[in-house]
Amino acid sequence: MDAPAKKVFVKTYGCQMNVYDSTRMRDVLAPLGYAETDTAEGADLVILNTCHIREKAAEKVYSELGKLKRLKRERHAKGQEMRIAVAGCVAQAEGEEIIRRAPTVDLVFGPQTYHRLPALLARQEDTGRAVVEAEFPAEDKFAGLSTAKSPVRAVSAFLTVQEGCDKFCTFCVVPYTRGAEFSRPLAQIEAEARRLAEAGVRELTLLGQNVNAYHGEDQQGQAIGLAALVARLSSIPGIERLRYTTSHPRDMDQALIAQHAENPKLMPYLHLPVQAGSDRILKAMNRGHTAGDYLKLIAKIRAACPGIAMSGDFIVGFPGETDADFRATLGLVREVHYASAFSFKYSPRPGTPASDMKAQVPEPEALARLHELQALLHEQQTAFNAACVGRTLDILVEKPGRDPGQLVGKSPYLQAVHLQGEKALIGQIIPTHITSVGRNSLSGHYGTTA
Ligand code: 5AD
Ligand code: SF4
Repeated sequence: MDAPAKKVFVKTYGCQMNVYDSTRMRDVLAPLGYAETDTAEGADLVILNTCHIREKAAEKVYSELGKLKRLKRERHAKGQEMRIAVAGCVAQAEGEEIIRRAPTVDLVFGPQTYHRLPALLARQEDTGRAVVEAEFPAEDKFAGLSTAKSPVRAVSAFLTVQEGCDKFCTFCVVPYTRGAEFSRPLAQIEAEARRLAEAGVRELTLLGQNVNAYHGEDQQGQAIGLAALVARLSSIPGIERLRYTTSHPRDMDQALIAQHAENPKLMPYLHLPVQAGSDRILKAMNRGHTAGDYLKLIAKIRAACPGIAMSGDFIVGFPGETDADFRATLGLVREVHYASAFSFKYSPRPGTPASDMKAQVPEPEALARLHELQALLHEQQTAFNAACVGRTLDILVEKPGRDPGQLVGKSPYLQAVHLQGEKALIGQIIPTHITSVGRNSLSGHYGTTA
């Protein structure tokens, strides 16, 4: 007799790699009879896949756990079970502390151990005690997952090719929560890309905390960087578009820049965080590059791929940042002209070098800087979007829109685009005449004429 169907609810916080990890958690749970559900109510297993990058990340998780505790009690009163798991980077950073503060939690596991989820669940069930697994096991977690075959419905999918970071920017927890830099073997990535393409995926976004530091090996033992990986994945039938994120300026090599010039499947959009525009602050951040290095790099990329849309990440109010340092960041932004960007107010992460630095910037000052930077970035994004009106862009149609007959797709520059059309167009790339620009998206219609 088949085991009765159980339900799992995975709540994902933070970055795209967590989105990918959540998919893979569902993959490993499917053979155990767990079907996906999209609310905690009615779930036999709830997994919070957490992120530790943002301020008060752990506090938000504890407050969510408070709500889940009540739900668990209600289910128990009805004779139903509900196991609660905390995964991801908060799990890695907090470990046992989670069980101490929230004894309702049954399972804590870090980003490097989710392939062991079935074993961890069994151990918890057998012992009736909370299980905490926050190690960096030597085995390759991706290898343990390679046979998973979950149904893929999306046109665009993430594929993790690299994980972890050895750069140790002084503000960042990633090297501690995701561990040392690791590249997945080429054959494994190609097999997963083929499987995704066969399931209808047309666009792959290659993920890594330092994706352009990717270093694999081909069958002949030849070193393969991200450029060669992109070139190989482009030849897989069905794969029409490729993107990669997030890159570090120091790993942006000539071969990768050349791919942007030569490979029409590699989209003209690049997320290349700089964090700050002052060399003094970049040094204190341990970024390993100057503002000048970054600007020179962008000039090179634009020479190879004119019109490429640039995106970035910024931190304001890093310890010791003066008004002049902040003006240097604004100056850099004015030179680059970003199509989109993410900007944050610095907040200390326990255990990182910057959290102990003197001269933390007062909160109101940092907030004022953030607002000023965001106004400038918003102005640039609006200008970039407005310049698309009247152009014909190739749109990869992804899904139906909210209104009847409406479709939503993505431009090469990662903008959401609304258009009218049949559902049969989903999965196709169609030339679209852009007619207007809204707050967060463009609108247009099929064809090249107005
Ligand atoms: N404070 C503020 N922003 C941070 N980021 C990373 N750590 C911190 C921190 N301690 C930002 C960086 C990074 C992005 C993912 O989050 O800009 O590129
Ligand atoms: Fe964090 Fe990125 Fe710096 Fe690595 S390169 S430490 S992930 S900000």
